[in-house]
Formats: sequence, C-alpha cells, structure tokens
Amino acid sequence: MAPPEVYHLALSEKTIAGAQYALLPGDPFRSALIAGAIAKCHGGMVPDRPLAHRREYCTYLMDICGAKVLIASTGIGGPSTSIAVDELAQLGVHTFIRVGTTGAIQDSIEIGDVVITNGSVRLDGASRQYAPIEYPAVAHHEVLTALVDSANAVMPSLKHRFHVGITASTDTFYQGQERRESFLHYVPRAFQGLTEELRQLHVLNYEMESATLLTLCNAFGLRGGCVTGVIGNRTTAERITEHALRRGEEHAIQVAIKAMELLIQNRRA
Ligand code: URA
Repeated sequence: MAPPEVYHLALSEKTIAGAQYALLPGDPFRSALIAGAIAKCHGGMVPDRPLAHRREYCTYLMDICGAKVLIASTGIGGPSTSIAVDELAQLGVHTFIRVGTTGAIQDSIEIGDVVITNGSVRLDGASRQYAPIEYPAVAHHEVLTALVDSANAVMPSLKHRFHVGITASTDTFYQGQERRESFLHYVPRAFQGLTEELRQLHVLNYEMESATLLTLCNAFGLRGGCVTGVIGNRTTAERITEHALRRGEEHAIQVAIKAMELLIQNRRA
C-alpha cells in the first residue's frame, strides 16, 4: 500500500524521496523560479510539473550537492505556513529556509538588499497556538551562519548589502504593518505608532511568515532560518514596483540556495 499523503501538501514519504531540506517561498509561482535557479547552478533539469500543487502549496523536488531538496511554497501568513512546516516535519524534513520578500523600516536598507532574520517579533497568531508568546522565534544558529556566509559570498557580486537582525512578522499586510492605504484608510489604535516603535527598537523589516516558521522549528527541535529580499522601504519609497519585486526576490533566492549548499556540505563533513 502507498504511504499516506499529508493532507494539504499532497506529498508522501515516497514522493519526496527522503528529502530532509526545504526552501520555503511564500508565493507558489516562486517554487518553479527557485527550481530553475537551482537547475542553472547545479546543472539539473526542472521537472515539467511540480511534485504536487494543491491550493497555495506548490512543491518541486531538486538536487543540491547530491541531497534531495524540496521547494515548497507556504502561501501568505502564519496559518498556511504552519500547515506547510508541520506537514513537512511529519514527512522527515529537518532544515527549513524561508525565501521571501520584505518591506524595510530602517532608512539605511535599500531595495535589492537582503535581510537575514536572527529572530522575529511574534505579531502573528499561528505561532501562539504552538508555543506561548514568551517563547522566542529565533533562527537556528547553523542556518543563520550558513545564510551569513552565503550572503558574504553572493551579495558583493550583486552590488547590494545584507543586514542581519530582528524582523517583525505580522498577520496582516495592511493594518498589522500600519498601512493607511487600505480599504479603511484607518489603522486601529493598537497599531498606530507601531512602525516607529519597531524602528526605535532596531527592528529591520516587516514580513508575514518568519515568526510562525521559527517558532515551530524551535518547538519541534528542527532547524529554521529566513532570508528576504527588500522590495520596498517604508521610510523612503513605499510603492512596490515589479522591478523591485523581481530584484529583491532574485537576491534572496541566490543567498538561500548557496546557504542550502553550505548546510548540506557541512552535514557531510
Ligand atoms: N511583505 C510584507 O509583508 N511587507 C512588505 O512591505 C513587503 C513584503
């Protein structure tokens, strides 16, 4: 009898062929892009079709340095991310790198730079259903080191910088990140002044998945990390352009793939 599929991701131990590493974009269309980038630098072929694509969960299986690596999209935000990470962990994945995009909140961070998250402010809801709010959402030290080593190797040739620090991870893009250009044009009192407070506390950026990912990885005793490409800066030019999106995305992908290589090689050494 075929081994059972996990409910949402439509994957089984058999279909993932023993993969223990996962790159996690938010956007399902980014899974193919990352698979293509891996094929380009590791000489493989991108499969015609993903292993599975159900709802926001689009998964490819690729090889990096002889190890099987899943590229599995999480969708946007904590609830869908928690499902992806939980189901991948059930299948035996032990190392997770989120590859996403972000809005910077510090003046010195430019569009096209990347942010490596060492810990997240847990402004999500999903992580609270796995561990109490006092529990830290921190990156695993080996994944963090690999991301920093990778960024040191990759970013100079991309002519952009990287930043390592704390990320605010929210459940909403508009209200939770204090944007007034929403339907309501109003930010509830609890969030008014949030961005300035986070800025004063040296938080670097906003995104929507790292708090959930890092809390779950720590709670499960697994390894997690997060790299995001900067596609907007809330203190300078808020409007996110297609060009900024592609640049931020591409830079984060380069750093994440190289970091995965380093983690796979270090496990073997
Ligand atoms: N993702 C976010 O959550 N916020 C941004 O500003 C950009 C990307």
